[in-house]
Amino acid sequence: MEAKNIEQTLDKMRRDWDERARENARFYVNTERTDWTDAEFFASGERTVAEEILTDMINICQGRDPLTMRVIEIGCGAGRITRALAKRFGEVYAVDVSGEMVAQARQACADLPNVHVFQNNGMDLSVLPDIGYDFAFSTIVFQHIPSREVIVNYVRETGRLLKPGSLFKFQVQGDASISTEPDDTWLGVPFTDEQACAMAEECGFEPRYRHGAGEQYFWLWFFKK
Ligand SMILES: C[S@@+](CC[C@H](N)C(=O)[O-])C[C@H]1O[C@@H](n2cnc3c(N)ncnc32)[C@H](O)[C@@H]1O
Repeated sequence: MEAKNIEQTLDKMRRDWDERARENARFYVNTERTDWTDAEFFASGERTVAEEILTDMINICQGRDPLTMRVIEIGCGAGRITRALAKRFGEVYAVDVSGEMVAQARQACADLPNVHVFQNNGMDLSVLPDIGYDFAFSTIVFQHIPSREVIVNYVRETGRLLKPGSLFKFQVQGDASISTEPDDTWLGVPFTDEQACAMAEECGFEPRYRHGAGEQYFWLWFFKK
């Protein structure tokens, strides 16, 4: 993609997500409900962490005490999962392209001094301090990104910041029948299993486990080489 086009895509992602956040951030974060209470919204984040993280602590921690671990979260939205991560891990560094979402996440985590939320440019992690991270996580974010180049760049950037051997666990759209337009910031580009493995190789990861190829929730376990 040409530089001009990528700038346009990043700008569109930021504007669209700001607009969604102003309209009803919690609905666009988790479309199960339009009228989330605080308690229900954050309980849904706890459920995601219970299902995707607490069941997988062997791969995630590899013997380390989670309270000593630094975690990256890409696309934190309104802090739904960020809060739950912060209760279990030492430090959470979260990014989101939308300043409106970032404001909501900061408010949601204001009582948690181990949470650091940053607005980024929508394609790299240069806003995060380069201090070595032990785990990275992202869900229902890349499935909205219409540019393969942006997603690959996030994987490369995560590889730059993770300590060797550490895990980046994330979800992409795996349903290849999805067709997306460069300016559609709701339906992201799909990945086949082969494309996911090629992305891992290109970015310095071992794609050790994959689950859900061909489905919307295609989960990838990339271990930094
Ligand atoms: C459906 S919400 C999910 C939020 C959070 N992961 C959760 O599950 O609660 C998607 C989030 O991804 C963010 N996002 C979309 N494209 C992004 C990009 N290119 N870079 C960073 N964040 C992005 C949006 O602003 C939004 O907050």
